[in-house]
Amino acid sequence: MKRLRLLLVAYWFGVFLILHLAEAQSQEGFISLDCGLPLNEPPYIESETGIQFSSDENFIQSGKTGRIPTNLEPENLKQYATLRYFPDGIRNCYDLRVEEGKNYLIRATFFYGNFDGLNVSPEFDLHIGPNKWTTIDLQIVPAGTVKEIIHIPKSNSLQICLVKTGATTPMISALELRPLASDTYIARSGSLKHYFRMYLTNASVLLRYPKDVYDRSWIPYFQPEWTLISTTANVSNKNHYDPPQAALKQAAAPTNLDAPLMMIWSLENPDDQIYLYMHFSEIQVLKANDTREFDFVLNGETINTGVISPKSLEITTRLTTNPRQCKGGICRMQLIKTQRSTLPPLLNAFEVYSVLQLPQSQTTESEVVAIKNIKSTYRLSRITWQGDPCAPKQFMWDGLNCSITDDISSPPGIISLNLSASGLSGTIVSDFQNLTHLESLDLSNNTLSGMVPEFLASIKSLLVINLSRNNLSGSIPQALRDRERKGLKLYVLGNKYLCLSNTCIDKPKKKFPVTIVAPVVSVATIVVVMILLFVFKKKMSSRNKSEPWIKTKKKRFTYSEVMEMTNNLQRPLGEGGFGIVYHGDLNGSEQVAVKLLSQTSAQGYKEFKAEVELLLRVHHINLVSLVGYCDEQDHFALIYEYMSNGDLHQHLSDRFKLEAISLKFQQLLLVLWGTLIPNIT
Ligand SMILES: *[C@@H]1O[C@H](CO)[C@@H](O)[C@H](O)[C@H]1NC(C)=O
Ligand SMILES: *[C@@H]1O[C@H](CO)[C@@H](O)[C@H](O)[C@H]1NC(C)=O
Ligand SMILES: *[C@@H]1O[C@H](CO)[C@@H](O)[C@H](O)[C@H]1NC(C)=O
Ligand SMILES: *[C@@H]1O[C@H](CO)[C@@H](O)[C@H](O)[C@H]1NC(C)=O
Ligand SMILES: *[C@@H]1O[C@H](CO)[C@@H](O)[C@H](O)[C@H]1NC(C)=O
Ligand SMILES: *[C@@H]1O[C@H](CO)[C@@H](O)[C@H](O)[C@H]1NC(C)=O
Ligand SMILES: *[C@@H]1O[C@H](CO)[C@@H](O)[C@H](O)[C@H]1NC(C)=O
Ligand SMILES: *[C@@H]1O[C@H](CO)[C@@H](O)[C@H](O)[C@H]1NC(C)=O
Ligand SMILES: *[C@@H]1O[C@H](CO)[C@@H](O)[C@H](O)[C@H]1NC(C)=O
Repeated sequence: MKRLRLLLVAYWFGVFLILHLAEAQSQEGFISLDCGLPLNEPPYIESETGIQFSSDENFIQSGKTGRIPTNLEPENLKQYATLRYFPDGIRNCYDLRVEEGKNYLIRATFFYGNFDGLNVSPEFDLHIGPNKWTTIDLQIVPAGTVKEIIHIPKSNSLQICLVKTGATTPMISALELRPLASDTYIARSGSLKHYFRMYLTNASVLLRYPKDVYDRSWIPYFQPEWTLISTTANVSNKNHYDPPQAALKQAAAPTNLDAPLMMIWSLENPDDQIYLYMHFSEIQVLKANDTREFDFVLNGETINTGVISPKSLEITTRLTTNPRQCKGGICRMQLIKTQRSTLPPLLNAFEVYSVLQLPQSQTTESEVVAIKNIKSTYRLSRITWQGDPCAPKQFMWDGLNCSITDDISSPPGIISLNLSASGLSGTIVSDFQNLTHLESLDLSNNTLSGMVPEFLASIKSLLVINLSRNNLSGSIPQALRDRERKGLKLYVLGNKYLCLSNTCIDKPKKKFPVTIVAPVVSVATIVVVMILLFVFKKKMSSRNKSEPWIKTKKKRFTYSEVMEMTNNLQRPLGEGGFGIVYHGDLNGSEQVAVKLLSQTSAQGYKEFKAEVELLLRVHHINLVSLVGYCDEQDHFALIYEYMSNGDLHQHLSDRFKLEAISLKFQQLLLVLWGTLIPNIT
């Protein structure tokens, strides 16, 4: 046991590295990143394996490059010479393109080498997607460490994250991905953490790529009570596990014919569940009356894999199909010869993995793709925008909120996105519509241009959209207007070129016959004149905002009166361009509609005033009449007569039927009331 441990520590660093380069094999699907290698340095072939390593810079957005002093550099291992360290942020993640559902061997290497001259070995956590993989403590293993896991990604991108857990700075030397055959190394649940992988030989050669097509590393291991068996013949290693032929050409058997072949090891964590993989091949030439047969016994229990009788010069692999536990964390594996066997058991190669449960589900993939596209389209470089957007909760991207339930096995969805004042420019890209759980979207205070996209209306869960203070143009799509009527809050103030009513340039043409173009123009003229008039007036008298600005005999209400008449805004009737209209009543008798300005921005205030001016001037018997207004500090409201006989649309249609003049006023009302009145046709 002691010897095994010693070997495991020495694994990789120096001692056993006598590799022989065979002819180059396909490295298809290999990802081999030399962390910290500058992007301008070309990829290089690692001399020991022939594997091509390249810079990690295109796979991570953060971190700095470190270089270890030449005198501390491990020989022949170029990828440990540079490293990436992460002084900023808590979680920093690599984002790798993988194939969903495919089995990967993932290997991360950490070699501190006092690169920063501080001589403080870092300690931090390593995460795979939204779950913790392991802790890296380089104080315990100053020579560096290699972590390996066999993992099946649940989407086409894989995040490997370094998470700061204390005062020291996380760092990484190399990151490698190797696709495996898909029907191998399957855990019932979770992923398989490499515990050890060895082949039984008294030599001291570490086997790696290209001897192992999957670039697994096999450490040599032998015990004094064993006898070495070897062959020079070729051994077929093809069974999808495909361990190196070199590993199958040698085997150990107990020297004492009747003794079991036994191995004992202890687990890092006594509760770990493990999987065992054993590779056998009969490499002795058996006499006619010889039989080699044995049972597989783990912790005293015969594992029901059937009697093992390795085939001649051909691989046989046996494994535990269920996860196993070892009492007290001490595992004892035995191969015991059967009664009729004339030869002792043998073993060529042996692998042990422990189960890593990955309970936290990652964010719904389509949303991850969408938010990543949004991130790259608008060139958002926020330190927290790495790894899974929602999970784990403590590393949720800033500006996001997600639905993370207590059932962490259900994928979180993004429910709010706040990119207010984030320097967004260009159009609103269609990726937003893939955030299908979105309830609140704040894109305000940017320089977004182009149209307000109709697809926003397709996000069923949306309750609030703030597009204020951008440079959007065109008109509000009808679909969004329809959503507004059903309760969606859409804020669009402060978009100079955005048309807020239904009477935008192209629309009336479709809805009204040519004959009404003139009235429309005249209404537009009135509006312009009114606004000019108002601006002029405003210039003449630099007024105090708290003073009433409407010269009128109409009643001025206080805000508390407004609240009283609407019973604290209890019954909304609809929402217009600049605010919501509520039902109310005056002195318990006269019914009114109260339009409350939703924003206090300069734009809203201006438009509000224009609306009042218009209503007061263009008074007509048939027009909904203004009862009063409220102008108190930040509160502005208009109080109109309420049409109680049928809905307003109905009422207006009846009244203005077929009259040119009435059409004109319908237009006017549309301007004034925004979407409260649907299409009048
Ligand atoms: C390994 O064992 C074989 C057979 O017992 C022996 O001939 C050989 O010298 C040993 N090699 C080493 C490196 O110990
Ligand atoms: C083993 O196989 C290789 C090719 O795969 C062949 O070149 C070699 O001659 C074979 N060796 C023996 C001993 O059959
Ligand atoms: C097997 O056969 C060989 C001769 O081929 C003989 O020497 C040996 O004793 C036999 N072994 C057994 C167990 O019968
Ligand atoms: C995003 O949504 C569009 C339209 O609903 C759809 O065609 C597209 O496949 C979605 N993209 C992803 C990555 O799910
Ligand atoms: C995120 O949403 C949850 C409800 O899903 C809410 O309880 C929490 O306060 C929100 N967090 C932030 C920062 O808005
Ligand atoms: C978005 O964030 C800004 C600050 O960055 C904050 O003022 C604003 O209220 C947030 N919007 C929402 C909808 O929470
Ligand atoms: C808009 O963003 C700028 C910075 O881009 C900030 O100074 C300003 O306070 C923001 N305004 C609002 C209303 O959030
Ligand atoms: C919308 O965004 C603007 C600009 O950031 C902000 O002033 C306003 O309060 C926001 N409105 C809401 C309802 O969040
Ligand atoms: C705003 O959009 C208009 C066109 O709609 C464009 O002419 C102007 O340059 C834009 N302004 C900014 C600051 O992007």
